[in-house]
Amino acid sequence: MSNLPDTAKLGKNGQLEIGGCSCADLARKFGTPLYIIDEATVRNRCRAYVQSFRQSHPNTEIAFACKALCTTSVVRLVASEGLGLDVSSGGEIYTAKKAKASLNHAYFHGNNKAEDELKFALQSGVGRMVIDNFDELNRLEKAAREIRKTANIFLRINPGIEAHTHEYIKTGTVDSKFGVPLAQLDAVVQEAKNKKNIQLVGLHAHIGSQILDVQPFVDETKLLLDLIDKYGLNELDIGGGIGIPYLENEAVPALEDFARQIGDVLKNRPEIKLILEPGRSIVGQAGVTLYTIGGIKDIPGIRKYIFIDGGMSDNPRPILYQAKYAATIVSKASQPRTDKVTVAGRFCESGDVLIKDIILPKVEAGDTLAVFCTGAYNYAMASNYNRVGRPAMILVDNGKAALVVRREAYEDLTRNDLC
Ligand code: LLP
Repeated sequence: MSNLPDTAKLGKNGQLEIGGCSCADLARKFGTPLYIIDEATVRNRCRAYVQSFRQSHPNTEIAFACKALCTTSVVRLVASEGLGLDVSSGGEIYTAKKAKASLNHAYFHGNNKAEDELKFALQSGVGRMVIDNFDELNRLEKAAREIRKTANIFLRINPGIEAHTHEYIKTGTVDSKFGVPLAQLDAVVQEAKNKKNIQLVGLHAHIGSQILDVQPFVDETKLLLDLIDKYGLNELDIGGGIGIPYLENEAVPALEDFARQIGDVLKNRPEIKLILEPGRSIVGQAGVTLYTIGGIKDIPGIRKYIFIDGGMSDNPRPILYQAKYAATIVSKASQPRTDKVTVAGRFCESGDVLIKDIILPKVEAGDTLAVFCTGAYNYAMASNYNRVGRPAMILVDNGKAALVVRREAYEDLTRNDLC
């Protein structure tokens, strides 16, 4: 199915397996909730991006947007595939350093980077600082001067391009907190070119996330190309990747098609370096979350709820963006789907519903539920609401499961309480 990890299959007795591991065994061994990341899917997506983009425009760098899933193990994995990194905080830079990733190929984003973060980035050798506005440009110049470094920068522009995605994850529209409005760009470019410790090398834009249409990316690339020609630059960074299928058989553009259409805009311009920063489409489908079903509450004629041992703290996307997810019962994945239920989390918030009205095989308390496509922006946005510890994460590959993030214990929750 289109929304599962590449290695997902039905093993013995129709049980769900990922990365050659039985999900039921993983739940028993590591407990639930449990984030599973399938290494092969991550590697396949990295390779597919690099190959399809380099085929249509050889001078392309793919940088993984760490914000989608930032753990030492995942950054190490992605870096081992030769990808650069999009980082957006000192913490992400710190994680990348721990993973021994090359920061030379890192792009530091954000609309309000602090002076100490800017210095940390420069001292750590981050290759490109992506500057969002006038104030940040001045702050970077001060930071660079103080530590006697020169900063290579991109300016982020606000392209004024509408893309069809959720209001909260659109970023390129005219009324956005991100990027220099086009009307102010001449002035900011001039200012950047005048600054001593700053070297302007390119432009960047990001039009939003979970976009299922190639055309807005094409429009964006054309606009960036015109602008870098106007200012005599030769690097352009078009931001995040294409959207992914969260639900079974949801139509998404083929990666090769996306790459070809962007490559066509840059045809006959081999000297232009293209940078793309996919996050969701590298790790999203690689992730599956396992939960244990506790109670079942049937309100006759109204709704049947099944309660899980996680919810909005490990996956805030449904409550934030009305995101939709698919799921199955791991030990009954091959059984007919007959039970219409609503999957509710354990948190003190009535909106804590992970999936409304899904039809599953007959559900019983104690069953293990697998929710698909949870690799991106789940762990990355997880919280400790209700003082619940964040789940463990395992990386599965070829029948082996490695614990890469341990489950938070009670002591972790009070670690920073001083009195
Ligand atoms: N580059 C920049 C500058 C970005 O801001 C983002 C995402 C990306 C790349 C990666 O975009 P992707 O390939 O993952 O679409 N929390 C939201 C998504 C926020 C995306 C923020 N920026 C969600 O869960 O849907």
